[in-house]
Amino acid sequence: MAVDPFLSVRGLGKSFAGHPAIQNVTFSLERGRTLGLVGPSGSGKSTLARCLALFETPTSGEIWLDGRNLCGLNRRERAAMRADIQIVFQEPASSLNPRFTAAEIVTEPLLIRRLGTGKTRRQRASELMETVGLPREALQTPALEFSGGERQRLAIARALALEPKLLILDESFAGLDLSVQAQVANLLLDLQERRGLTYILISHDLAMVWRLAGEIAVMDHGSIVEHASVADLLARPQHPLTRELLDAARALSLDGAPA
Ligand SMILES: Nc1ncnc2c1ncn2[C@@H]1O[C@H](COP(=O)(O)OP(=O)(O)OP(=O)(O)O)[C@@H](O)[C@H]1O
Ligand SMILES: [Mg+2]
Repeated sequence: MAVDPFLSVRGLGKSFAGHPAIQNVTFSLERGRTLGLVGPSGSGKSTLARCLALFETPTSGEIWLDGRNLCGLNRRERAAMRADIQIVFQEPASSLNPRFTAAEIVTEPLLIRRLGTGKTRRQRASELMETVGLPREALQTPALEFSGGERQRLAIARALALEPKLLILDESFAGLDLSVQAQVANLLLDLQERRGLTYILISHDLAMVWRLAGEIAVMDHGSIVEHASVADLLARPQHPLTRELLDAARALSLDGAPA
């Protein structure tokens, strides 16, 4: 018996004022796996992510998640589905209310859906803070008093609050120092192992992609030009752009190596 993949994207396109940002994007992803999405700036990674997270309406194509066509949902169904798909945006500072306290930011998704009591939500907020390496004492601190990297961690904690089935991370590690990056990466791996979460990880940092993803899709000019397991991609890159990205990453890690 053929089993439908957890996520299946077919011929997806999104145009802005007639200009395609993504076109004919087709791929599938099994439950509990991580897809790394890489490619040059402007290649359409964030647009694809925003379509998957129901923040943009595709111009064409279909998105199937867990057996449901996300493009055919009414408003109520979309709202319900949003709990299952969380995205940590590329610039979390702009997506967090600066006057909200850390506790309010992290637990708002639970409050909106009336999950738990005040007490259990406070408890959960505490746990989530610890999870992303922020001090519990900061729970009552307003978001605007956090640094960029700390706000990034708040955004990740918030996205994890509902334990979504699909978590999309759009450059979510960019502003974090290396030890926090490692901490959050371990947390994601642990959650995936225990709960079978599925991730899409967008990053210019190929080392992070290799660490977390089992497979990689390379985007260029709005299309996926190569999609392979990490092992195959490293051993036998097919597309010139993939080779370019690999060469650049190798050069970087050499430059960073101690003399
Ligand atoms: N809201 C929008 N309105 C008009 N054009 C847009 C919009 N969002 C994205 N685009 C265009 O779509 C193309 C893809 O942009 P996108 O942000 O998806 O790229 P990206 O791969 O995420 O780039 P980066 O690595 O710099 O984040 C770009 O040409 C961009 O200008
Ligand atoms: Mg982007």
